[in-house]
Amino acid sequence: MSGEHNPGGLVVDDSPLVPGSLSNQVAVITGGSRGIGFAAALGLAKLGAEVILIGKNLENLTQANKKLQDQGLKSSSFVADVADSKQMDQICSEILKNFTPTILVNSAGVMSERTAKTLRTSVDEWDRVLSINLNGVFNSIRNFAPIMVENRNGRIINVTACLGRMSGPGTNGGLAPYRISKSAVNALTKNFASETGSGKRGVLVDAICPAHCQTDMGGPDAPRTAEQGAETILWLASRPLKEDTLTGFLWEDRAIVPW
Ligand SMILES: NC(=O)c1ccc[n+]([C@@H]2O[C@H](COP(=O)([O-])OP(=O)(O)OC[C@H]3O[C@@H](n4cnc5c(N)ncnc54)[C@H](OP(=O)(O)O)[C@@H]3O)[C@@H](O)[C@H]2O)c1
Repeated sequence: MSGEHNPGGLVVDDSPLVPGSLSNQVAVITGGSRGIGFAAALGLAKLGAEVILIGKNLENLTQANKKLQDQGLKSSSFVADVADSKQMDQICSEILKNFTPTILVNSAGVMSERTAKTLRTSVDEWDRVLSINLNGVFNSIRNFAPIMVENRNGRIINVTACLGRMSGPGTNGGLAPYRISKSAVNALTKNFASETGSGKRGVLVDAICPAHCQTDMGGPDAPRTAEQGAETILWLASRPLKEDTLTGFLWEDRAIVPW
């Protein structure tokens, strides 16, 4: 994954994040048990949000939830495979009985096999990666976005990757299921942002590229920490809604980068 980082665009706002600014907000984070999703959950909770973690592995989820609660932060966790629409419907309806989410971070994701050039990709591998990375985002959005649309209050942040960009590194070949799943989530993001009025109706929908980060996926030698990768998520989640708020874009380090 080295070489994925693409610094470039103009940083649109470098103001500091303000502790307490997200009190009264409820943030759902898929993939919140580890890596960038956990860093996002920790950061959002420190800004005051109540966080809800979704992950597949109960042990990882329990540990992550405990780490947050041990710091006095408000969190809870729910086990589901994001790729499984029935499991997602079930836990999401449980969540919606007790919470009104205002922030949704879709970070759950898997890398494809390193050898996965298009003609070396098995049908099973294709289905595995696409069902988690793409269908997982759809399963999350179709459950959590309606209440945000209804309340005209939502921030939806999809963690994609520069490897999913149609410009630059996204189409250089290799890692086909991964790259294509991330390109598809970029498309989902732009399309859904348009469908929700591009911010005019209170819901902001964006994608971020965290760049290459030290996580289980990124490996220990990655140049950035998970916290650095998550910073733009916190910023996007914290943005007030104004006439000129930019939404429906792919962001990296608070700057818009080409899809
Ligand atoms: N790290 C990087 O350098 C990098 C670069 C660009 C983009 N990204 C993207 O950033 C996101 C987070 O990556 P990461 O590096 O933080 O990965 P990670 O450390 O491997 O963590 C992946 C997270 O996704 C969850 N997850 C995986 N499959 C799931 C499923 N089927 N259902 C529910 N949860 C599932 C995992 O939960 P369990 O503990 O239950 O498995 C875990 O919380 C991914 O979408 C990735 O593509 C990462």
